Amino acid sequence: MISVFGSNISEKEIRRVVEVLKSNWLGFGGKVTEFEKKFSEKLGTENFCMVDSGSNALFMAVKLLELPPGADIILPSFTWVSCAQAILMAGHNPVFCDVEPDTMNVSAETISPHITKKTKAIMIVHYAGKPVDLNPVMGLGLPIIEDAAHAVDSFYHGKACGSITDVGIFSFDAVKNLTAGEGGGICTRDSKKIEEAKMLRYCGIGKSGFEAASSSNSNNKWWEYNIIEPFIKMLPTNIAAAIASTQLERLPELQKKRKEIWDTYQKEFEKENWIIRPVDAESFEQHSYFTYVIRVPKRDELAKHLFDNGIYTTLRYHPLHMNRVYNSNARLKNTEQLNLDALSIPLHPNLTEENVSLIIDQIRKFRERI
Ligand SMILES: Cc1ncc(COP(=O)(O)O)c(C=O)c1O
Repeated sequence: MISVFGSNISEKEIRRVVEVLKSNWLGFGGKVTEFEKKFSEKLGTENFCMVDSGSNALFMAVKLLELPPGADIILPSFTWVSCAQAILMAGHNPVFCDVEPDTMNVSAETISPHITKKTKAIMIVHYAGKPVDLNPVMGLGLPIIEDAAHAVDSFYHGKACGSITDVGIFSFDAVKNLTAGEGGGICTRDSKKIEEAKMLRYCGIGKSGFEAASSSNSNNKWWEYNIIEPFIKMLPTNIAAAIASTQLERLPELQKKRKEIWDTYQKEFEKENWIIRPVDAESFEQHSYFTYVIRVPKRDELAKHLFDNGIYTTLRYHPLHMNRVYNSNARLKNTEQLNLDALSIPLHPNLTEENVSLIIDQIRKFRERI
């Protein structure tokens, strides 16, 4: 079966993980600090903090905004559940908005109708790695959480996605463009906030065991600590950071492969007028090519046809407002349409030329059934 997502691990990552295992310092430590420094350089900021998942990074991001309890936060329904869960877990209310049908991203137009006096923040998602048109959204004058889980190599007017608004988050889970196995990170414009994030991620203790052991302590009691705030543990490991650092070094090579596949799909499906293709990046943007989403009639039948021919596809994402748990009565026309006709087809660096040809051929074959 050809998988729809996939990470690409080379001998380099394996070597670095073995080094960590041999070092006997498997948990949080120097490899994390090293990755934070390298990734900050890529983002063009000093303010980056690695945590153990993108989902936890979202929770931390909401907390860092210090909103009044029970605030409304507007977010797309067309996103991963962690976005809404983070808002609820932090004691706020998710308010779902629609996305644009072509970019599958929120816009100032899709957000504005939901703004009320209770709205205290907006959470945007750079869906599939296509940057949200942020300038008009920032013009709405509310704090913005930027979910760049798909957008590790995306840029908007020269700035790295995830680093542009008040607080941004990344995911380095197993299927992302840059993987750590599991991992995530937070970026803020405010350096004090990143210090706070680094304090919070270890149960709200000011100093981690690693930092305490590696710095001198004035009263020679390095085992003492002050608990600054109640918080959960979100520490990433040296193992995850070693994988992430190596993936970061290899990112140009991995991204080149993704772009080649994306461009092939764009070119080949141009001739298929029954397929709505995803939009390319604007001249002032860079796409990360996280997932290639087509829109087709008879989507479920196409998915089944591909599955029967060894090709796995999926829908990212089943709309959150249609999930009973959120108790939403929103009607979101574009999102509900995407729920009927959108399909992610395989896009990752492990695909061979034969895989890509097979995927294109099988999609073309389905045309007869339209
Ligand atoms: C848009 C979005 N946000 C957040 C996350 C959460 O990231 P993680 O899997 O690292 O917890 C994901 C994961 O798929 C995602 O797609």
